[in-house]
Amino acid sequence: MKNYKTLLAVLAAGAALTSAQAQAVRELTVDASKPQKGIAVQPTMYGIFFEDINYGADGGLYAEMVKNRSFEFPQKFMGWDTFGKVELRTDNPAFDRNPTYVRLSWPGHRERRTGLQNEGFFGMAVKKGAAYDFSTWARVPADGGQGEKKIRVELVNTHNDVIASQEVAINGSQWAKVTATLTPSQDMQGGKLRLFYLSDGAVDLDHISLFPADTWKGRPGGMRKDLVQALSDLKPGVFRFPGGCIVEGIDLASRYQWKNSVGPVENRPLNENRWNYTFAHRNSPDYYQTYGLGFFEYFQLAEDIGAEPLPILNCGLACQYQTNNETGWVPLDELQPYIDDALDLIEFANGDASTEWGKVRADMGHPEPFGLKFVGIGNEQWGKVYPERLELFVKAIREAYPDIQIVGSSGPQASGEDFDYLWPEMKRLKVDLVDEHYYRPADWFLNNARRYDDYDRKGPKVFAGEYACHAQTPNSFESALCEAAFMTGLERNADVVPMATYAPLFAHVDGWQWRPDLIWFDNLRSVRSINYYVQQLYSYNKGTNVLKLTENKQTLAGEGGLYASAVYDAAEEAFIVKIANVSDQAQPLKITFKGQKQFSKGTVTLLHADDQQIVNTLDAPGNVLPQTGVAYAEGNVYETTLGAKTFAVYKFVK
Ligand code: AHR
Repeated sequence: MKNYKTLLAVLAAGAALTSAQAQAVRELTVDASKPQKGIAVQPTMYGIFFEDINYGADGGLYAEMVKNRSFEFPQKFMGWDTFGKVELRTDNPAFDRNPTYVRLSWPGHRERRTGLQNEGFFGMAVKKGAAYDFSTWARVPADGGQGEKKIRVELVNTHNDVIASQEVAINGSQWAKVTATLTPSQDMQGGKLRLFYLSDGAVDLDHISLFPADTWKGRPGGMRKDLVQALSDLKPGVFRFPGGCIVEGIDLASRYQWKNSVGPVENRPLNENRWNYTFAHRNSPDYYQTYGLGFFEYFQLAEDIGAEPLPILNCGLACQYQTNNETGWVPLDELQPYIDDALDLIEFANGDASTEWGKVRADMGHPEPFGLKFVGIGNEQWGKVYPERLELFVKAIREAYPDIQIVGSSGPQASGEDFDYLWPEMKRLKVDLVDEHYYRPADWFLNNARRYDDYDRKGPKVFAGEYACHAQTPNSFESALCEAAFMTGLERNADVVPMATYAPLFAHVDGWQWRPDLIWFDNLRSVRSINYYVQQLYSYNKGTNVLKLTENKQTLAGEGGLYASAVYDAAEEAFIVKIANVSDQAQPLKITFKGQKQFSKGTVTLLHADDQQIVNTLDAPGNVLPQTGVAYAEGNVYETTLGAKTFAVYKFVK
């Protein structure tokens, strides 16, 4: 084993030796004597939080390209332009829960045209030569004339050039699905899907849909491949869905109802998306939930990416920011349907095909149970209206499913009156985990790395269910470094915090309501934020056991600008140290692994930027990326200089 402290040139980023030499060496000790005896790191660390905010589902992860495909938006033609004879109807619909459809009729002259065109989400984007699956449900109405009818389906670019075209035949008076594959001759941004009616008489159309054929796992009508890949590449321990505030709705009517999100997609009733109107300065009047991504798809996604599913359900309260009065509080004696929704969901996920809801899952193509272990009741609730409802859920779930772990809420703030009231209530109700949320500035994150050091070890565990550093520039390196520093405190306190999920997850660059976000995208591309790489570094290096890391016998959480934690990975027999240096000074380090003699190999991964406000963008996705090189320890001692404003992960294998 060589004893040099050589690193690749790139790894010296920020390590100005002149200033480092002026600094005293920071001597850190990792107690590596009985590594497997350290606190167990839970497999649920580190996870992801999914919500249909920022066009995260419709217009994002859900690869459907047609907006308002079922004509159920309150403005029935929102997203559509019509020409010629186009009429909305609801008689004898194809789908009883989405009854509106369009009738296209002969325009009365061979030179006139009937049809409609859809603008997609912020315009449609396609790739030259790729296949796109068009489908619609169609029939010839009783008074629509004899024989076969035809429509022409086209992709049209911003110059009004047709870049793909197919004719589709419609026969018969019964609703049936017709399909075509469109293969564009050019790339296109901001284009449209256009349909012409080509026959005499009339046809009825509903659920007009267009998907890329190349979805995640090639599933027809599936998810965007690049976005799921980004999730999969995080190796997340837990997947929380479907929110967030959309669980609550701005009123009870618009709450997320999971039972509406399963079964055939065509008949999943449309719901408002509360992010449609939450922020007037980010107005999004065309934001609705088709539930095309529903609970089955979320469970399946969790399974695909190897994460524990964590559904959050409405507790009988609408979002208290919008409706905090009797109209948004389900009376206690009317709460049973909400409780039944929770019990039925557990059956949907885990019951066999002989059960009512297990059969629904099996009929959707997943006879095996999903193995649900956790369920959250309520999102950001507060006041006594919450525990008095939660108590009834806890009682019913404990009775029916004693092994399911229940997540309660500590409200929208990470401190203060509501938080102080709810935590004792969560203990009284004996929930298993308490969801804490903190969207806070950089100094909060830096000052809270010891937040969990003194938490009660006997009460419920903490689910850090929504957090992000809201620094000067959203998703800047500065914000990512603060999160990395703070997360040493999550890692050190793995016995208290077994789950943590950054939030929100996704944002469309043309449609966001909230930032920062972990992953940004447009209609074809996506970019992983610098914050994403912090999450990934923690996830890939989470280890199995926490090791005590000290400087002068004290844990290190900000002293002299350093934040540090350490873990052992039993499978790899690796000792992993994470250090965030938030100071302006490079810091010479001497790390001693007490109880070990020597290592066979070592690596160092650094995340650094000179410009604290830099971000990764769609055009420059690699502005800041982790850089990995070799690290050499001398015996059980590793000496290096950690650059200013740098997050480092050092890993030494026995
Ligand atoms: O993540 C965005 C929102 O922040 C969530 O919907 C909500 O729970 C929180 O207020």
